[in-house]
Amino acid sequence: MSRPAPLAVLPLTNVLRSLMTATISSSPLLLPPSLAIMSVLANTSNPVLNPDRNPILRYFLKKTFYAQFCAGENALEVQRTIDSLKKIGFGGVMLCYAKEVVLTEAQMKDLASCETDAAVEECVRNEITPWANGTMETVRLAPPGDFVALKFTGAGRQALHALSERLPPPAALESAIDSICQLAASRGVRLLFDAEQQALQPGIDDWSLKYMRKYNTPDAAVVYGTYQAYLKGASAVLSQHLAAAREGGFALGVKLVRGAYLGNDPRHLIHDSKADTDLTYDGIAEALLRKQWNAQLQPHTEAEGSAAFPNVSVVLATHNRDSVLKAQAILSEGKIDADVAFAQLQGMADEVSCELVTTSSGAAEKARAYKYLVWGSTGECMKYLLRRAYENRDAMQRTRDGRDAMRTELLRRVKSLFGLAR
Ligand SMILES: Cc1cc2nc3c(=O)[nH]c(=O)nc-3n(C[C@H](O)[C@H](O)[C@H](O)COP(=O)(O)OP(=O)(O)OC[C@H]3O[C@@H](n4cnc5c(N)ncnc54)[C@H](O)[C@@H]3O)c2cc1C
Ligand SMILES: *[C@@H]1O[C@H](CO)[C@@H](O)[C@H](O)[C@H]1NC(C)=O
Ligand SMILES: *[C@@H]1O[C@H](CO)[C@@H](O)[C@H](O)[C@H]1NC(C)=O
Ligand SMILES: *[C@@H]1O[C@H](CO)[C@@H](O)[C@H](O)[C@H]1NC(C)=O
Repeated sequence: MSRPAPLAVLPLTNVLRSLMTATISSSPLLLPPSLAIMSVLANTSNPVLNPDRNPILRYFLKKTFYAQFCAGENALEVQRTIDSLKKIGFGGVMLCYAKEVVLTEAQMKDLASCETDAAVEECVRNEITPWANGTMETVRLAPPGDFVALKFTGAGRQALHALSERLPPPAALESAIDSICQLAASRGVRLLFDAEQQALQPGIDDWSLKYMRKYNTPDAAVVYGTYQAYLKGASAVLSQHLAAAREGGFALGVKLVRGAYLGNDPRHLIHDSKADTDLTYDGIAEALLRKQWNAQLQPHTEAEGSAAFPNVSVVLATHNRDSVLKAQAILSEGKIDADVAFAQLQGMADEVSCELVTTSSGAAEKARAYKYLVWGSTGECMKYLLRRAYENRDAMQRTRDGRDAMRTELLRRVKSLFGLAR
């Protein structure tokens, strides 16, 4: 039993808070009412229930769920969170601005309404500008070398309309994205373009490639696209992008995820079983790290198969311990020259993240562990917190594993306390 305790790197308050969150999330008794309360809080127009208006509610949420998953409400708080994560040993953070443009049902039904001349200005003012502003601020908050994540759908109706029709970004959005990319490139911050629902993803893939081509250098990525391994078509999209990167002479930025829309996306586009998704994830990760085609990542054409593999910058975004261990085993062979980062959501799978932190330090490994966090006021973060609550419920076994790991860690600390006292 001399296995090192990875969670020993966490401050006690984190252990206690994680234990509480995981206990609630894995309790059949406590979870349903908690979810119901959070749904109301995330979607209310009543000022008494709005955490940004009700100081008591805000205080409670801020100290518990908010602290578990979010970075802070302002630059100072965000900075403190980043510093404490780096002190633990994380490479850094992936920051995302929490505020979401909320469209009414009528607006959702009529996405093209932003195309009429009279409405364009209003859509730009109320939807694109706030999104761009928030994202620019996030890029300024992120330390050089760290990441900023962004969702195009956050930019409102013009973005949704263009993506669903697979059109290029409309003019105002295009200039906003250029400003964001230029600021990121000049600060040394890297940008992650999130993958979303299938109805929009081909459009997002096009935009990702467009900006990778424009801003990535031959040896490193400023912009990363997100590739969802649960899709049967993931390998085809990725190999087309790899071919484009090789021809264009730029490094492809690949954030590899399993995929978050299992419940909403057309089922036939997704692998039939979890095992198939796992096989694809690990296979694509291996191909990228080794820069070698394999069964899971096939070349786009035969000629491509014999051409040199382009440079890739890789983010392995996963809470799956087996996937992390497999990738680490490949990296520890020492022959890998790809730029690799691991990432987990803040507040989730800390046992996996901390194991990464404790095992990669010192070793000749270039990979570093990052935590993904949103920032914004407590009210702005409620929708994000609700999604995390549902994810914890849907990944019940992992939530239980997390709870048990936190319990064991707490017990270990108590025991070692007595050990010292004796
Ligand atoms: C930093 C970060 C950024 C992310 N960004 C995005 C993003 O931009 N877009 C996005 O879509 N996701 C994104 N994700 C992934 C998503 O949020 C989930 O965290 C992820 O899918 C959970 O899988 P896992 O790799 O942690 O492993 P696990 O918990 O081992 O796998 C669970 C996943 O497996 C897949 N799966 C489960 N059951 C089945 C089944 N029966 N058949 C086929 N597949 C199945 C699903 O994708 C499910 O989410 C991101 C994750 C992280 C950590
Ligand atoms: C949010 O509230 C509105 C009414 O105020 C309701 O129509 C909608 O379904 C709610 N959404 C969620 C996710 O609860
Ligand atoms: C955008 O940023 C400017 C300053 O940079 C600020 O004055 C303005 O209020 C912001 N607008 C929104 C909608 O956030
Ligand atoms: C890949 O990056 C290296 C530097 O890390 C560079 O020397 C090389 O030219 C790049 N390869 C391609 C194909 O651009």
